[in-house]
Amino acid sequence: MEKKKQILSCIQPTGDMHFGNYFGAIKNWVELQDQYDCIYGVVNYHAMTMPYSPKKLRENTWALVFNLIATGIKPESIFIQSLIPEHAELCWVFNCFTSYGQLTRMTQFKDKSAQNKELGADSFISAGLLDYPVLQAADILIYKADYVPVGVDQEQHLELSRNIAQRFNNQVGKEYFVLPESLYTEVPKVRSTADPTRKMSKSAGEKHYINVFADEKRIRKQIRSAVTDTGDTPEGKMSPGVQNLFELLKASEKMEAHAQLMKDYEGGQLKYVDLKDAVADALVEISQRFIAKKEELNSNKKEVKNQIKYSSSIIRQRAQQTLKEVKDLAGLMNVKF
Ligand code: TRP
Repeated sequence: MEKKKQILSCIQPTGDMHFGNYFGAIKNWVELQDQYDCIYGVVNYHAMTMPYSPKKLRENTWALVFNLIATGIKPESIFIQSLIPEHAELCWVFNCFTSYGQLTRMTQFKDKSAQNKELGADSFISAGLLDYPVLQAADILIYKADYVPVGVDQEQHLELSRNIAQRFNNQVGKEYFVLPESLYTEVPKVRSTADPTRKMSKSAGEKHYINVFADEKRIRKQIRSAVTDTGDTPEGKMSPGVQNLFELLKASEKMEAHAQLMKDYEGGQLKYVDLKDAVADALVEISQRFIAKKEELNSNKKEVKNQIKYSSSIIRQRAQQTLKEVKDLAGLMNVKF
């Protein structure tokens, strides 16, 4: 049997999971599990690169683990980055194969340092923030990932990972690392229902995102108050708010309702309340499923945590193997394990 291609992706622990995250990334991760060998990391080392609170970091890390399982990721595919310290050690080795100038030119580094400056006098830009993409390269290459499902905003980081792999291969005179490719899947771009000109995100505040674990009442309220027409959409064009509601319906795989309501729209007979009800029904159906699963997990918190510590230890063996080979190739002595 042919070996399945390796998929690797990671996510930072940053609190609530919303429908933008779910439809835009996690749902795709869940589906990829049928076809590929998948590893998904909760990258808590990365979450230290911006000002943060240790207590929140610990809470958010576990919360994200539970959320990922509740939304359909297999526990055995999940690892917590700090439980696999080899990532940080490989990052060091890779630092010596990374151009400092290239790191300073990374868009995300420039954006985040600017954000930090705006935060005020006691903000500072850590070397960790500059080094962030090198740790990301370690996450990817330590599992010899073939494909990395990410958004287009991560292309620069993927390119850097390939540059590092190539420079390492050249140095050691061997095609040791596979060059990882980004995997772009056509995913819905979900927008804020309160302001459909911006994407659904937590940074803009509570009304700009719908939590995938929100209760029915809250979801219905948020959808009922969704912006539809603002009066400034040109004649014959669908307003961003209505488009977004249709997009949510499609993302929820309610194709029949979608087709019917679209027909109403084209015939000039669409009642927004019908569209909103259909969207709310669809989202509630999904969230109810997730809530039930999460309740089950919450009643076994300890076991779930142990399961993830165990899965991390199994995934770690692969990381240890790669790091051992890398150290041999790089002229470093190895610890026996
Ligand atoms: N930088 C990624 C993001 O912001 C998160 C990330 C860290 C990642 N390590 C990774 C993504 C490895 C893919 C592979 O979304």
